[in-house]
Amino acid sequence: MRASVMANIQKAAFSSSARQLKHINSVTVIGAGLMGSGIVQVAAQSNYNVTMVDTSDAALKNGQSIIAKSIKRVAKKKFGEENTSEQQAFIDKAMSNITVSTDAPTAVSATDLVVEAIVENIDTKQALFKALDQAAPSDTIFASNTSSLPVTLIAETTSADRQSRFAGLHFFNPVPAMKLVEIVRTDVLKDEVYESLVTFSRNTGKTPVECKDTPGFIVNRLLVPYMMEAFRILDRGDAKAKDIDVAMKLGAGMPMGPLELADFVGLDTMKFIIDGWAKEGKIEEALVTPSKTLDDLVGQGKLGRKSGAGVYEYSK
Ligand code: CAA
Ligand code: NAD
Repeated sequence: MRASVMANIQKAAFSSSARQLKHINSVTVIGAGLMGSGIVQVAAQSNYNVTMVDTSDAALKNGQSIIAKSIKRVAKKKFGEENTSEQQAFIDKAMSNITVSTDAPTAVSATDLVVEAIVENIDTKQALFKALDQAAPSDTIFASNTSSLPVTLIAETTSADRQSRFAGLHFFNPVPAMKLVEIVRTDVLKDEVYESLVTFSRNTGKTPVECKDTPGFIVNRLLVPYMMEAFRILDRGDAKAKDIDVAMKLGAGMPMGPLELADFVGLDTMKFIIDGWAKEGKIEEALVTPSKTLDDLVGQGKLGRKSGAGVYEYSK
């Protein structure tokens, strides 16, 4: 084939796929907790216009304070300890890309991508997306940061058309430091939506991996049973918390021990994940056996670092 004909074919193929690809400029993140605030931060640092939504001003303030601390660390690392004016310019620019709101339907009424990072509860997520589906433009992409729930099930309360524009976009904690995003590709997800999410993930400095809509995707399918077994060691009285964590750090090279990590993730989130999987019955029973220690701590409101106490105590 002649080179010019080949070039025209390539150009036509490129422009037709470019037409279909949704260019993401503005992002709305619902949930201003540990994960939502991190997703807002990395998107704002990457020059997206971001709206951070939560149900109360107090929750938004909590998200803003997490971002304020984290972005200082990022700026120091990026520009060096001594370059304070560059650091400040970077922080100011990123912060100017963020607006906050308690009105989710209005926030999504002119947005290209919605990323949901609210509590890990199927009914709450479905109710939220049902409302957002009515309020968002028809070509807006919806994504959930769920740790463990089937994305197909979360999307069920939206229209069939939206379901083809609905994916899992699973970031890791702490979002500004962890380089991975799992993109959960449901059976009905359009290829061009998947590609738009790959581009968005790369633009935020993350490496995307593709996975099917199966329990725990890749990372949590491996990580959560491991953390749960650490709780069961505690339940059985086979070792102390500190020793379990030291053992896995020094003996297996983990950056955090499994119980420290559970406190970091949030014990309520851990319990939502394991109880949800046990109910769903799709994972072997032995792996989803509950832990009395975990259940007791959550019952006492000890949710890990974010609440000041969990397996360990944290001074504020
Ligand atoms: N904001 C910005 N940057 C941060 C940060 C934050 N909140 N926390 C850490 N960092 C950066 C630091 O700037 C530092 O960067 P450099 O090394 O390049 O200078 C780097 O991360 C390491 O931080 P520190 O030196 O302060 O501390 P550390 O070496 O102890 O690392 C850690 C901290 C990155 C959190 C590390 O302990 C770690 O990787 N822990 C495991 C985290 C993990 O497994 N996360 C996944 C949880 S599971 C999940 O998220 C999925 C789910 O659905 C539940
Ligand atoms: P979090 O408890 O820190 O924050 C949840 C936030 O959602 C709170 O600020 C809460 O006020 C808000 N919220 C609850 N219902 C809402 C609603 N209807 N509308 C708007 N905001 C609402 O939780 P998190 O750790 O950030 O987890 C959020 C999601 O991310 C969960 O699905 C979780 O499974 C997932 N996730 C968590 C981690 C982790 O390590 N914590 C990692 C990856 C994914």
